Amino acid sequence: MSQPNGETFDIVILGAGSGGYAAALRAAELNLSVALIDKAELGGTCLHRGCIPTKALLHAAEIADQTRESEQFGVKADLVGIDMAGVNAYKDGVVSRLFKGLTGLLTHNPRITVVAGEGKLVGRDTVEVDGRRYTGRNVILATGSYSRSLPGLEVDGKRVLTSEHALRLDRVPSSAIVLGGGVIGVEFASVWKSFGADVTILEALPRLVAAEDEEISKTVERAFRKRKINFKVGKPFEKLEHTENGVRATIAGGETVEAEVLLVAVGRGPTTANLGYEQQGVTLDRGFVITNERLHTGVGNIYAVGDIVPGLQLAHRGFAQGIFVAEEIAGLRPAVIDEAGIPRVTYSDPEIASMGLTEAKAVETYGADKVSTYNYNLGGNGKSQILKTAGFVKLVRLNDGPVIGVHMVGARMGELVGEAQLIYNWEAFPEEVAQLVHAHPTQNEALGEAFLALAGKPLHAHS
Ligand code: NAI
Repeated sequence: MSQPNGETFDIVILGAGSGGYAAALRAAELNLSVALIDKAELGGTCLHRGCIPTKALLHAAEIADQTRESEQFGVKADLVGIDMAGVNAYKDGVVSRLFKGLTGLLTHNPRITVVAGEGKLVGRDTVEVDGRRYTGRNVILATGSYSRSLPGLEVDGKRVLTSEHALRLDRVPSSAIVLGGGVIGVEFASVWKSFGADVTILEALPRLVAAEDEEISKTVERAFRKRKINFKVGKPFEKLEHTENGVRATIAGGETVEAEVLLVAVGRGPTTANLGYEQQGVTLDRGFVITNERLHTGVGNIYAVGDIVPGLQLAHRGFAQGIFVAEEIAGLRPAVIDEAGIPRVTYSDPEIASMGLTEAKAVETYGADKVSTYNYNLGGNGKSQILKTAGFVKLVRLNDGPVIGVHMVGARMGELVGEAQLIYNWEAFPEEVAQLVHAHPTQNEALGEAFLALAGKPLHAHS
């Protein structure tokens, strides 16, 4: 197809995060010319302020815990302390190597023109950046999300932090309040506790990680109690006051908690304000861009991908949507993405990995008599015993039908989500998966055992 002709491209992409840059790479592969516009670094939130740096912190946290607990394994080691400068250098090193690789991929691609600057949609096919216009036969909106706060809760970056600030702290706070017991909340609570802070999570809903299966929440809460991570659930946050050395939060009912800092982790909002979207006729709902299932906005040739589209705000969903739209524009008619088929991992200790429907959602959708579940305790799994981790693998199936949910909690469970994902998306029956051999001793075997049990032939199962 055509090459850039002046400032006209096959696709103009606004935002070079996971969704935008994936669309650019796939489009270029399909011979389409692309203008990829971003006001900040290529790679967006995930690479610079989200997935990658937080997982580096979580890995450092794991090493701290393993050092503390090494005696259990007969290894003598003392944890002398956490050198945040060292932790940050390690974390920033990971980010900068990935950033360099990604920048090379995008800037050396002859079909991709990277434009640095703040873009605004000024026509149905045009984005303006610093007075220059970039016209596209198609436009992809991929402007991502920002950390939300609550009315009356002013983020100052010193005492009241978002995850972006928390990632850049040059010290371990002595104590922290984590407002919100969702994904960001439990990940940061986990890191800070491992680094030695006194942590309290405040969650309005009745349980931590409320989007997960109820049994997962119970296990995480039990593990957090054991780790002495405090949490108060079922009472929304009411107000914040500044004290001499930090902050005091009040929750419904009047109870207060004091700490050096407060992390606001109450969700992320779509970055769609003042970008010209509505002026061009794009429909926004509470700031999110409304699209059809093929990610088309219903306006001109404008598509949207990633966190601005209602649904799971996950980098890999953004990648998948970016690839989808590039293929759609190229006329390949890709299959619609099933949101329930997107794997979810929370990298706290214990780690959570899940696919498809929770038991409650499955029962609500299909009726209790159509659904069975099986919960395999990691107590029976050799490798998990070696690692000294507790948790389980839980399967939800349709009776005489496929597996429609996989829910796992325990150390390293995120690494098992690949098999869970194939099973869910291939609509595998437990009887089919039970025939496959799982390597021994691996944690992966826990999944194999759960399938054996659901297929009616449990091996190492305790009833
Ligand atoms: P979240 O939606 O997961 O959790 C926010 C929590 O704050 C909810 O449990 C909510 O009930 C609670 N909350 C809201 N208002 C409250 C109030 N007034 N008082 C007390 N609690 C209140 O959002 P989170 O954790 O901020 O993460 C944002 C997005 O980033 C999520 O969509 C998440 O999926 C994504 N993310 C994904 C990660 C991963 O995949 N490992 C890691 C970090 C973030």
